[in-house]
Amino acid sequence: SVTGDLEIEQYFKLIQNLILKCGTIMNEGFLSKQTKFKTKSAFYDIVSEYDKKIEDIIINGISEEYPTHKFIGEEEQAESKIEALLTDDPTWIIDPIDGTTNFMKKIPQACISVGLSIKKQLVLGIVYNPMLNELFAAKTGHGAFFNGEQIHASRICDVKEAVLGYEISLIHDKRVRDKNVKRIYKLASNCTGTRCVGSAALSLCYVAMGRFDAYHVDDLKPWDIAGGAVILREAGGVVTHTSGGEFNIMKPDLIGSSTTELNKQIVELIKEADSITDYTFE
Ligand code: IPD
Ligand code: CA
Ligand code: CA
Ligand code: CA
Repeated sequence: SVTGDLEIEQYFKLIQNLILKCGTIMNEGFLSKQTKFKTKSAFYDIVSEYDKKIEDIIINGISEEYPTHKFIGEEEQAESKIEALLTDDPTWIIDPIDGTTNFMKKIPQACISVGLSIKKQLVLGIVYNPMLNELFAAKTGHGAFFNGEQIHASRICDVKEAVLGYEISLIHDKRVRDKNVKRIYKLASNCTGTRCVGSAALSLCYVAMGRFDAYHVDDLKPWDIAGGAVILREAGGVVTHTSGGEFNIMKPDLIGSSTTELNKQIVELIKEADSITDYTFE
């Protein structure tokens, strides 16, 4: 491993405590009728007062113990004008609320998601949905856990037996919109079922515990997937780039699947979908 296990265990304990504390705050926000929401870059880009609050608690809590650690957090990135770069330094990749739209609509599918990268390798991930009290956690090389019990991805190898999580991001861009409708058409025609949870982090965790067999999404941000990617890999699953090649945490276009066989079939279906030219969507 890139860092000693003892050190990682200390990081893990610290982040778990911070996330549990933030979970209580998030759940209060979920139950409150007064939570304020506003839009950021566009009408569909929503943020609540809780997003910033939670991210600040996590960043401050880690900085106090480890002043040299770096952060890539959704809300601090939204404020900063400089694009985040991943270095070899310990870097906490934080989504204070993944699934803010669900949070706003009182759909209990949202979470706090954190991944830690050291020497550009993810070493731990925690994803916590406080509304359902579901905590997913993993340390690289040590398995994945759901509320303390070890979890494993399904052994499904045939897309026809797979339930696939799918999401359409960035619908304002026509090229991306067309790409997604072709892909969802192709995938939904070949899977047992498709589901949209509204949280990328939870979707990856659902593959990790066998609720889903696969998940596909393009055009996300590092914080959406860092925590969930570690958890899925540690549950025996596979995370690749949408092309089937190596997954890039800073530019997450990805397929998360329970098995390599399933990954390959989804890669092929996506290629077929992308080559469809005979369609009309205006
Ligand atoms: C969103 C969720 C969602 C995905 C969106 C993301 P946010 O994150 O991950 O699953 O489809 O593209 O923006 O804004 O709720 O943290
Ligand atoms: Ca957001
Ligand atoms: Ca997110
Ligand atoms: Ca968020």
